[in-house]
Amino acid sequence: MPWSHPLFYGFKAAFCLLLTLSFCASDALGQGKTNTIYPGEVWPDNNGNHIQAHGGGITKWKGHYYWYGEDRREGLDPNYRYTSCYRSKDLVNWTHLGYALKVSKPDTILGEWVVERPKVYYNAKTKKFVMYVHVDGSVKGVSPDPSIIAYHYARVGVAISDKPEGPFKFIRTFRPLGHESRDIGQFIDDDGSAYLIFEDRPVRGFRIAKLSDDYLDVEKEMCLITERIEGGAIVKYEGLYYVIGSGLTGWNANPNKYATATSLSGPWSEFKDIAPPETNTYGSQSSMLVKVQGTKTTSIIFTGDVWKPKTQWDSRYLWMPLEIGDGKLWLPEPAPWTLNIKTGETKILKKK
Ligand code: DGJ
Repeated sequence: MPWSHPLFYGFKAAFCLLLTLSFCASDALGQGKTNTIYPGEVWPDNNGNHIQAHGGGITKWKGHYYWYGEDRREGLDPNYRYTSCYRSKDLVNWTHLGYALKVSKPDTILGEWVVERPKVYYNAKTKKFVMYVHVDGSVKGVSPDPSIIAYHYARVGVAISDKPEGPFKFIRTFRPLGHESRDIGQFIDDDGSAYLIFEDRPVRGFRIAKLSDDYLDVEKEMCLITERIEGGAIVKYEGLYYVIGSGLTGWNANPNKYATATSLSGPWSEFKDIAPPETNTYGSQSSMLVKVQGTKTTSIIFTGDVWKPKTQWDSRYLWMPLEIGDGKLWLPEPAPWTLNIKTGETKILKKK
């Protein structure tokens, strides 16, 4: 086709229009940004590195979301445990802010040890950020072989910061209300009260307890739920509390379950599957339930970990919007999905 041909001008005009439209679309999201979440795939941060925020927690503060989690990247100094922090406006595109917390081993732990499942609360009265973590490892006189990690320490650690990204100053470890504490979860109620969820292995259950006014202590037990659940998370949706969690199978996925109650003190309903049990929660484990209250709708996002125990740095995330309401909760089959942080709307796209 000669350059002067009228068809060429038609193509040129269409091409320019396409270029302008695609530029506007990418500009609306910002350079290199996306509004699509790909469950189970590598999730690059602003530097193109896979996000290291395993067993994570999400805190919203002043229009930003902060994602805290276990940093399990290769090559870290083995004398420390690291909690990373990422920031986002849309829950999809995350900027790495470095380490919020870097801690060395408590003296009473022998051999191997862990700092897991960080959760951060903002205290409006003290204007401090308070982080809870699960600190665990082998203990003298209790654990037979300190080279093999044993979760016998069973404590929470608490740290404090003036800024969401840290650095958090480690304060102490303790057993909340004197009980053993393994996996932890966090919940903030509509009235601003802050709660810790923690697994108590000896009683084969988990507890929900209110934090003290300054959030530095665990003050009042709301209930003990005698269901063998870890990775506990709570959300309040249309006046009903939903609690979810996984079974106790270490790094291996299992059918996660949920129950409901009209009060945090219970009574709680019986526990039911959140997904077809044969999928083992599509290979994931519950971490947190994130509520997005938009101008059009409220969405509840299941955030879970797809653990890779032998290559932990490559563990993935399974985030999906939940089907929730009228006392029912269901995790749809994972597929890429979009989130509109302003309206709260989500859309599940076709699988690739
Ligand atoms: C399951 C817990 O939920 C994780 O946080 C981690 O502690 C693994 N167990 C370790 O096996």
